[in-house]
Amino acid sequence: MESGGRFIKPSLVHGDLWYGNAAINSETGCPLVYDASSFYAHNEYELGNWRPERNKFSRSYFNAYHSHIPKSAPEDDYDDRNALYSMRFNLQAAAIFPKKPSYRDLVTDEMKRLIAKYPNGYEEEGGNSTTPTAQILPRSFDVNEVSIPAVGFGTFQGDNGNGQVKESVLKALQTGYRHIDTASAYGNEKEVGEAIKESGVLREEIFVTTKLAQTWHNPSEVEEALVQSLKTLKLDYVDLYLMHFPHAYSAGPNHSTLRHPNGKPAIDYELSRAYPQTWQAMEKLVDSGKARLIGKIISSQHFTVHPVNLKLGLSNFSIIKTKRILEVARIRPAVNQVEMHPYLPQQELLDFCSAEGIHITAHQPLGGRPVAAVNPNSDRPGPLLDSTILLSWALQRGVSVVPKTVQEIRMIENRALSSISGEHMTSISKIVESTGTIRYLDPKEHIGYGLGIPRPHIPLVINIIAVAESLFYLVAFLPYSTYLQRAAVHPPVPSRPERKALFEKCYKFIPDPETYLDRWFLGAPQEEIKRDNVKEFIQWAFFNRGGEAGDDDEELEEYVTAYETLVGRKFEPGRGNAECLRLTLDPIDMLHRSLAWYMCVGFVDLLTYIGLLRAGFHFHRTSLSRFFTLFPFRPQTILTTKRSPAKYTTYWHRPHTSTTHLPVLFIHGIGIGLYPYVSFLSEINSADLPSEDGSGGQIGVIALEIHPVSFRLTHAPLAPAVLCAEIASILNHHGYSRVVLATHSYGSVIATHLLAHTETAPMIADMVLIDPVTILLHLPDVAYNFTRRPPQSASEHQLWYFASMDMGVAHSLARHFFWSENVLWKEDLEGRDVTVSLAGRDLIVNTQAVGQYLADGNEDADEEGDEEVPEMSEDGDLLVQEGWKHRTWRGKGLDILWFDNLDHAQVFDTPTTRRPVLKAVRAYAASGL
Ligand SMILES: NC(=O)c1ccc[n+]([C@@H]2O[C@H](COP(=O)([O-])OP(=O)(O)OC[C@H]3O[C@@H](n4cnc5c(N)ncnc54)[C@H](OP(=O)(O)O)[C@@H]3O)[C@@H](O)[C@H]2O)c1
Repeated sequence: MESGGRFIKPSLVHGDLWYGNAAINSETGCPLVYDASSFYAHNEYELGNWRPERNKFSRSYFNAYHSHIPKSAPEDDYDDRNALYSMRFNLQAAAIFPKKPSYRDLVTDEMKRLIAKYPNGYEEEGGNSTTPTAQILPRSFDVNEVSIPAVGFGTFQGDNGNGQVKESVLKALQTGYRHIDTASAYGNEKEVGEAIKESGVLREEIFVTTKLAQTWHNPSEVEEALVQSLKTLKLDYVDLYLMHFPHAYSAGPNHSTLRHPNGKPAIDYELSRAYPQTWQAMEKLVDSGKARLIGKIISSQHFTVHPVNLKLGLSNFSIIKTKRILEVARIRPAVNQVEMHPYLPQQELLDFCSAEGIHITAHQPLGGRPVAAVNPNSDRPGPLLDSTILLSWALQRGVSVVPKTVQEIRMIENRALSSISGEHMTSISKIVESTGTIRYLDPKEHIGYGLGIPRPHIPLVINIIAVAESLFYLVAFLPYSTYLQRAAVHPPVPSRPERKALFEKCYKFIPDPETYLDRWFLGAPQEEIKRDNVKEFIQWAFFNRGGEAGDDDEELEEYVTAYETLVGRKFEPGRGNAECLRLTLDPIDMLHRSLAWYMCVGFVDLLTYIGLLRAGFHFHRTSLSRFFTLFPFRPQTILTTKRSPAKYTTYWHRPHTSTTHLPVLFIHGIGIGLYPYVSFLSEINSADLPSEDGSGGQIGVIALEIHPVSFRLTHAPLAPAVLCAEIASILNHHGYSRVVLATHSYGSVIATHLLAHTETAPMIADMVLIDPVTILLHLPDVAYNFTRRPPQSASEHQLWYFASMDMGVAHSLARHFFWSENVLWKEDLEGRDVTVSLAGRDLIVNTQAVGQYLADGNEDADEEGDEEVPEMSEDGDLLVQEGWKHRTWRGKGLDILWFDNLDHAQVFDTPTTRRPVLKAVRAYAASGL
């Protein structure tokens, strides 16, 4: 009575020694007694008889039995023991009904399973085992008072559709599966429900899992979602209800998934972030909602009432997201169903969930489709493993599985699992170290949405733009902006008499000394502006340099004393904390411009091109080899056949056909090139203007393009002599020996140079200077307002952001704008008729001071009586309006056009404001010959 270390103690427990359990050994003739005591020593032997399905005893019967007679120890083996006991009866049934193969199959399946499970024989509780490392694989896991079968059955059939679902679930139930995993999103709840019904297996013996689909995440709809699932399943309850994914899809009609044209689902971002609220709505299904739910189903479908112990769970939840659920959960999730196999062991998630008492079920335990882990034809990486090994590995880690198959043999195989040795476990767990993790259901690929932090799907074009912008920032802006900071090359220092002369000229016209100092010293408190600070400023302004006073101290002292007289107080000795504005010495402030911005500049350039072509202008390009020296590139320039004789300067030309008028040379200001001037330029010959001049042709116009101040990336401003030589060559190229010069804003800087240059000065006839920045340049307004003023109003912000902070503009001003070279004095205008157009609300130029300066001592004006015009203010005060602002334009000597309500450059905006300026241009053109 002893074999393999196991024995039974003979003891009389039952007197039933009948022929059914006694025999004669045919070889030895000895009597044999079957292990009758082992049969009867366990009360469960009888249960073995009832267990086979044909006897139709449900688990509740067994439960009722054990409520009177508890299960005998060891309880872990209870089911297997029971299976063993029932085998005798099943064998008998198989022998009696040989035509019913299912009886025989049942026995062989059971035998195979038991042999697989106990390959080394039965290990007694606390007893010695022949394989000490072997572990018993669990048949189920106890989770929150329910028992989840360790091997469930997956029903997702993917692209193959749901044609085989019913049949395979039916087979699965027949071959012993008692956990069916379905989902509303699989669209097969109907087939699953039908198979459950037809299987004959009692509902309470089956553990059914379904899932809340992603188009039902709205908390107000969660209950309806479960009702729908139950109706489709034709079940009155499910055992486990999972939130299929943390993220939600936008729902179309009937809760279908809305999709993008590329087929990817449209994510509902708001609901995707609200998964904790969706969970709270699921919780309501369990407590108060439970009764209502069943009530509903009863009334609509007449289902029977069962006590429901609905468990809730998650699916595809990361640690972070599970934690968020735990933060709000009243009812803790029982399960988290996630992709898990040796290539994606998710050890951290498993540890976290185990610690939190959340059971993990592995979906795609075989690697999903196309079964990388077990399918030799799969082109996915990783060593091949036997399916039973994969599943055993999971079970041994405490993870239940839901493999899917449509093949009966595989259904059996996937349940016939045996424990694997510790060494084998370790080697499987190490596979991932060489393969790297492989996620077969990668939401990033699948739906363009990660399981980690929610992130919107970014279209390819946006990605391309982002990469291009980043590259542009790193490769163009950063190095170029650093390069532009190089020190300026200042013009030669003037001689002492020249300096003194300049100082005195400036000194004579400082209308408001306090503001003068305040602006040049950037608003510093008076007491911080000490002698050395003033000297520092003078050194920059009149000596073109920084550094210490040195040999020039005596001269500097002289100027400082003059300033003291001007402001009526002494400067304290030494240096205060004041900083002064030294435009060409200070670091350059500039801002990054995006590639998109340059594309906009390119587009406006194209519009300008079209506008000027339509107005009869021809574009004159420089050499094609310079194509790449101007960004944004100008593909339209390739279309022109006209060449500029200059190396750097491009321009637009409208041919001159008039014999009675001079042509016009126009130079624009800082901005987006010639775009704002297209109307102005085309109207120089507009029919709207009076034509009584009898020109008999058209006035030719040359409009230069000054790229360094046109929001482009290009060369630095040309040195005055180079630029003047280029302009002279352009005028000569067209045979223009004299032109009327019209400039706007920064264009007046070039006007100053043209007047000072021996070759170009005689070519300039009369002039129209619109919003000139060069007159009274010794005053701080232009430099301060353009480069240092903290912007307040919308137009100041516009000026600051678009113009002042542009790389090219900022560099042109901070490294190539030498005020003493650019300043235009009244006497420089003598000998020409000049119209200066000033805007009363100019945000850059102190036009009040400029107008006053130009009007002072203007004899022509005095002749006509430059009277001050009294006017009443709104509150009755007597105001004195300067007469020079209201004088009629005469076209002789120095004329001022004053536009009370306009800002810088606004004169170009409407035909009405353009008209007087155009009139001056045309009149000068007419009178110039
Ligand atoms: N919660 C979720 O988001 C989620 C996601 C994916 C899956 N799931 C659940 O998890 C279940 C399983 O996942 P899955 O179906 O994608 O993948 P799987 O079970 O890992 O693999 C299924 C594939 O393996 C094959 N197969 C099954 N047993 C085999 C064996 N013994 N030998 C060789 N090949 C075998 C099947 O082919 P045959 O059918 O031809 O045998 C099928 O192609 C699903 O059905 C579904 O219920 C849940």
